[in-house]
Amino acid sequence: MPTTIATPETKRAPAAEKDFLPLQGTDYVEFYVGNAKQAAHFYKTAFGFHSLAYSGPETGTKGRASYAICQNKITFVLTTPIRSNHPVAEHHHKHGDGVKVLALTVDDATSAWEETTKRGGKSYLEPKRLSDEDGDVVMSGIHTYGEVVHLFIERQNYHGPFMPGFRKWESNYNPPGTGLQHVDHCVGNVGWGQMNPWVKFYEDVMGFRNILTFDDKDISTEYSALMSKVMSNGNGFVKFPINEPAEGKKKSQVEEYLEFYDGEGVQHIAMATNNIIETVTDLQKRGVEFLHIPSTYYDTLLDRVGHIDEELNALKGLGILVDRDDEGYLLQIFSKPVEDRPTLFYEIIQRKGAKSFGKGNFKALFEAIEREQAARGNL
Ligand code: FE2
Repeated sequence: MPTTIATPETKRAPAAEKDFLPLQGTDYVEFYVGNAKQAAHFYKTAFGFHSLAYSGPETGTKGRASYAICQNKITFVLTTPIRSNHPVAEHHHKHGDGVKVLALTVDDATSAWEETTKRGGKSYLEPKRLSDEDGDVVMSGIHTYGEVVHLFIERQNYHGPFMPGFRKWESNYNPPGTGLQHVDHCVGNVGWGQMNPWVKFYEDVMGFRNILTFDDKDISTEYSALMSKVMSNGNGFVKFPINEPAEGKKKSQVEEYLEFYDGEGVQHIAMATNNIIETVTDLQKRGVEFLHIPSTYYDTLLDRVGHIDEELNALKGLGILVDRDDEGYLLQIFSKPVEDRPTLFYEIIQRKGAKSFGKGNFKALFEAIEREQAARGNL
């Protein structure tokens, strides 16, 4: 007799399935910006990125210029239009500086494209082989929320600085790094009622799992609220939390983002460090601005999180937040937006066992964001 009740066998079955989209991690993040030359200088000066590669008219690329910069396993590409009729110019006019590409490293970009498009992913780029004297890169891509795309990058047969079309960027200006190691997670802001459809997209099209859910009770202050679900790929190397606004007495920070970005997009990128005190001390000296956390946050911190290795006063002096889960604790801090529109910002995170996202800090964090929103007249 057929039955609709799931047996333990059928419940276990999906976990045993082969991962149809094995990902090695974040390959690079590409931003469309108004002035890539100056943006690259900012990321080198303020965040400690290094010059990696350049693509532009001098390398045979028409209409735009791109600077690839890196720090340990993090690669950013800053791309700008050099003519007003270039599609990148339209993107920049609408959104300001923002993330266009979240690129993921794969062993097989053709299979990644076939597996995701046959599950309903909308193609952005059919598998394409790029070659130069340093080897081959195969890339393909699909659309995700807003105008953001995922590119699948297959580069095991490539030995150049970045990829074909780019040449090594030698610079006389090489400030030291700040200890940023890898991309921990990238968060998307989507419109009202759009979180669950995008959760389903990551489940169905990319084989991700929803590992954590925060409702508007978890993420609310007296004034504003949002909801969030964290999506993770099979091996946990790639995590994409998805936020949507929720009703509150005043305007949600996600609504403010959607208004000023003029659509859905990437809200923040979290970069991991092995020593958050050293990294944040350095970033502050170099001019990175962080949200201010009131000193009262630290009065009850140790009662909440228990023993931590770091000096409380050092954390308090820098405004670093701490949270604990069953597996350990994490330290995190959030920058102010890095452009004049209140859109993209950065998180610096150090994980000491914890795999969560700092739920215990949401209230303090969102109150800090609200003070900034109020100062902009957008609360
Ligand atoms: Fe985050």
